[in-house]
Amino acid sequence: MAKNSNDAALENVFSAVAKKVSPTPIEAKTEKAFAQSIRSKLQAAFGNSAQLFFVGSTARDTGIRGDRDIDIFVAFPKGKSRDEIVAKTISTVKKTLKANWEMHYAEHPYLQGRIDGYKLEIVPCFRIQMNEGIISAVDRTPLHALYLQKKLTERQKRDVRVLKALLKAHGIYGAELEIEGFSGLVCEYLVLNYRSLANLLKEASSWKPPMVLDIENYHEGKYDLLIKKYQTPLIIIDFIDKNRNAAAAISLHSFSKFIQISRQVLQKPSSSWFERKIPKINLPKLHSELESRNFLLLKMAKPKGIISDVLVPQLRRSAMSIEKQLKLFDFDVFNSFSFSDEKYSCILLELPFLENYPLEKIQGPPIFMEKDLQKFLSKHKNSKRLLIENGKAVSEQPRREKSAVSIIQKIRKSPQKSGIGSNYLLPFKNSSIFSGQALLAALKKNPSFKAKFAEFLSSEL
Ligand code: UTP
Ligand code: MN
Repeated sequence: MAKNSNDAALENVFSAVAKKVSPTPIEAKTEKAFAQSIRSKLQAAFGNSAQLFFVGSTARDTGIRGDRDIDIFVAFPKGKSRDEIVAKTISTVKKTLKANWEMHYAEHPYLQGRIDGYKLEIVPCFRIQMNEGIISAVDRTPLHALYLQKKLTERQKRDVRVLKALLKAHGIYGAELEIEGFSGLVCEYLVLNYRSLANLLKEASSWKPPMVLDIENYHEGKYDLLIKKYQTPLIIIDFIDKNRNAAAAISLHSFSKFIQISRQVLQKPSSSWFERKIPKINLPKLHSELESRNFLLLKMAKPKGIISDVLVPQLRRSAMSIEKQLKLFDFDVFNSFSFSDEKYSCILLELPFLENYPLEKIQGPPIFMEKDLQKFLSKHKNSKRLLIENGKAVSEQPRREKSAVSIIQKIRKSPQKSGIGSNYLLPFKNSSIFSGQALLAALKKNPSFKAKFAEFLSSEL
């Protein structure tokens, strides 16, 4: 296809997607007017003690339709304590606006509440200058907002919305640990840096890690240092803080996925790339997969009241520990996949075999080490055969652990010794293990497990 006709096809797709995912002009106007009225009410209530900012994607038309999320930041002068600014924010906001306010503690405390169907987030922070050290993780946000508001054109804002739709469709939008993907800020940065979404996709098609983007040229000629310092596949130097990598959350997996998606969209422009495809599995397929492969599903109660940025890495670590234990007993793990729904956290393991060979070989010392050899021989008096292999003593004997399930049952009795995450110690102790027919029944009974299983079986390329 000629370059220009491809560009036209791309543009057609982008504008069709933008129509679908953008708030209507009336929605956008109403939402912004509402946010501004909240901002000015709060500004009046805080008076000189703080400066109120309406930030986030809603403020600059880079949000997706239906999100209805309004971010307002309360910037206090430096010198106060974090506890002081949090307390002052809670009391002033609650006095000024009636809502079901809830305190949230992510990496930084903030208030969340619903008013008129909008989700309001009110975040206390400290007022800082460009490239000045931060006190709390959110202090840069008002400066980001001012910079982006000034730099992004209307067309680029549209491109940001379309990019967010693309990333969401492929499960790589968001910096949270569950996703390890592209944040809203990164999306805006990428479009700004490459000037347009079309150009971003073209460039990303040939990205090779590590990629360094430094839009304000803070580190010209010193990229080697950045690569050493950050060690991430994509390094994006924050435009208001030269000492921050805004892309730190993006995993190699998300980075790679984006490269491939970019190529696909360019090769065959179509709005279907921008729609989430939910993997499905029918019963015959479910039966045949479970019959021809070996799975173990470990089902635990999901710990309550703990944020997913804490739970997700703990669950992953627990899965890795179980894998390690299995390998210690000569069980290979072919695939491992962990997930949570509202009630449960699960670890799905696929193994080449669930029952191991009834014999195992235990390696002893080299024959020339006489003392050690004597010890080994007396310890293995009852072995089936004692051999010399590669100059070392070897005992061939009945296998201690023949079944993968029984190994997991053993770990379950003393989980703290096996590296299970702290919030999962108790759930793991009370967990259930499913395989074969019982696993089939569990998947049939629980639609969210079945959906996750379908996701596990689906291809990424
Ligand atoms: P959002 O997560 O709402 O991002 O954070 P966004 O840019 O508005 O994108 P969408 O469209 O809603 O998904 C709002 C602001 O808070 C800052 C971000 O920089 C963003 O501008 N923020 C968010 C932080 O500083 N730290 C965080 O942990 C989260
Ligand atoms: Mn937002």
